[in-house]
Amino acid sequence: MTAKGAPAIDAAGLAQGARLDDKIVIVTGAAGGIGACIAKHFAAAGATLLLADIQADHATAIAQEIAARGGRAASTPVDITDPDSARAMAAIAMRDYGRIDVLVACAGIDAPRGQAWSLADAHWRNVIDTDLSGAWWCAKAVIPSMIRARSGRMIFIGSVAGRRGSLGTSVAYNAAKAGIAGLTFGLARQLEPHGILVNAVAPGPTGNTGEPMTDEEKAREAATYPLGLGGPEPVAHACLYLAGQGGNWISGTVLNVSGGRWQG
Ligand SMILES: NC(=O)c1ccc[n+]([C@@H]2O[C@H](COP(=O)([O-])OP(=O)(O)OC[C@H]3O[C@@H](n4cnc5c(N)ncnc54)[C@H](O)[C@@H]3O)[C@@H](O)[C@H]2O)c1
Repeated sequence: MTAKGAPAIDAAGLAQGARLDDKIVIVTGAAGGIGACIAKHFAAAGATLLLADIQADHATAIAQEIAARGGRAASTPVDITDPDSARAMAAIAMRDYGRIDVLVACAGIDAPRGQAWSLADAHWRNVIDTDLSGAWWCAKAVIPSMIRARSGRMIFIGSVAGRRGSLGTSVAYNAAKAGIAGLTFGLARQLEPHGILVNAVAPGPTGNTGEPMTDEEKAREAATYPLGLGGPEPVAHACLYLAGQGGNWISGTVLNVSGGRWQG
């Protein structure tokens, strides 16, 4: 730490790339396309992972795949819409590892379809409960131990949908992902004095995870994206950067990982 509390950046660590040796990392949504990709990249960088998902069996299978390649990963069921379940997830990490260095809050309902004039009330509640409140319950669950440790990182997975609408995607999703940006800014401001860095990554459509896209939709999106559809890997790389040495002086940002879809 410097005199003002900013974490020091050590050139040797930077030169090694984004190593996460000895870091304890929770990844929610780890059974899904982006979450599993993040988990595998973090494991390869040396992190010890707790993979949390409502699809517990799938999360366990990803943990076993990581372990088979020599990585360190365990799994736990979580329903992020339930604050008690999020607290139980954090408690398992504390019980088994003694600290939580990084939370990657990736679980969510990806880009549900819907027209504003016909959205069911339950749809709005479900998307906001999962994609916005769910991220908050997970953050809230890890704040106490991170404050005690005077150290931690939170990385939320937002979306380009937090910045722009689309003809097919539900406005509840736009609202939830815009809320992720506000959550990031507010938490960053309040947690930085405690040594905790908070950021979000905002992907464009990966093309091969989450809400399935037709070939026609993929072709249309790819044609309008300067860099094409990138899959989940660019999101994992952005998370690695924010979690590792390179992210030591970065907090309160929403990192645009949209293949050039939006500027800013
Ligand atoms: N796929 C994309 O193109 C894209 C683009 C931008 C942002 N995102 C965001 O990235 C995140 C991951 O998306 P993905 O493409 O991997 O989708 P995915 O559907 O493959 O994965 C989502 C995961 O979240 C889990 N999940 C859903 N509700 C949950 C709950 N209540 N509690 C615990 N786990 C729950 C699911 O079981 C699943 O494993 C989402 O937040 C999504 O909105 C995705």
